[in-house]
Amino acid sequence: MKSTAVAHPNIAFIKYWGQANPNLNIPPNDSLSMTKEGIGYTKLNTYTTIEFLPDYTKDTASIQETEKLAVTEEKLADRKLERVLAVINPLREKAGVDYKFRMKSCNDFPTQAGLASSASGMAALAMAAADALDLKLTKEELSTYARLGSGSAARSIQGGIVHWHQGFDHKSSYAEQLVKPENVNINAIITVISNTQKKVTSDAGHKTAKSSIFNTMRIQQTRDDLEDALGAAKNDNFSLLGEKAEDSAMYMHCVMLTSKPKRLLYWEPATLSVIKTVLDLRQSDDLECYFSIDAGPNVHVFCRPDKIYELGEILCNIKGVQMTIPVKPAGDAYITDKHLF
Ligand code: DP6
Repeated sequence: MKSTAVAHPNIAFIKYWGQANPNLNIPPNDSLSMTKEGIGYTKLNTYTTIEFLPDYTKDTASIQETEKLAVTEEKLADRKLERVLAVINPLREKAGVDYKFRMKSCNDFPTQAGLASSASGMAALAMAAADALDLKLTKEELSTYARLGSGSAARSIQGGIVHWHQGFDHKSSYAEQLVKPENVNINAIITVISNTQKKVTSDAGHKTAKSSIFNTMRIQQTRDDLEDALGAAKNDNFSLLGEKAEDSAMYMHCVMLTSKPKRLLYWEPATLSVIKTVLDLRQSDDLECYFSIDAGPNVHVFCRPDKIYELGEILCNIKGVQMTIPVKPAGDAYITDKHLF
């Protein structure tokens, strides 16, 4: 009863922020994302191995990180373990198994730094656990279990461009592939501005969304923009999708910046420098690109694949940008026999 899965993070064109049902991670709106994979040295893979055994006396989970040459292992406790259990407990129940588990996960990129490691982590976890428990679930069903650990993880079960339907209960809030990776003509440069762990996790941030006067407006506008974004993604209309993506990120940050009692300001000065560079590049007309920012300082800049190296050269020279990661659309999460233990 052991299995390992690999999943990739995703970046949303149309964001979700806040929760309609916090226990089930049901979002206030549909969202749309691209599952992403590194083109260069950083591949953006999360590997998760899980084993259920009658011999285990308690559930244990850890995340292994490789920072420079040092390998560290964090044993998950409290809220972090709770999020793992939010995925595993319903799967165990469905399989009628009450064995305890050992889980180990490993990222080839910084954890919790706005690169969506919880999305790939929870997606790999749901897939590996369902396989270890011998549950035959569709990708859409798997996405509902991944969602229980991290909302955006629902979108990392499948590759390409993925649509997460808001839904109203556990079954109806699922993600499905809209465009296959080979048909997505979009790449992106991730400008890593800080790779330290963020002070306010998205998990905590979602709970503050309702305190902003812009929250209802953001939800309404996002719902209105969704049809355009879906059409743009299907018809490869990069300009329209890019414009909607930038709007969506800005609406979300308006809510974050006006949350009470404490504003959520995830940006660093270099975040603004990247935004300004993108706007200037668009003005000059020959390098069409659009930005998006999640709950962190890093900026994703979308472009057409033939512009990726030119864009990377420009962005890596911005003061405060520590590293750039070029990415392309990734494939589905998958099972592998390369176990971590
Ligand atoms: C800002 O619920 O996925 O990326 O699991 O805590 O990382 P964590 O957060 P999650 O919310 C992050 C949402 C977002 C926007 C989006 O991806 O739609």
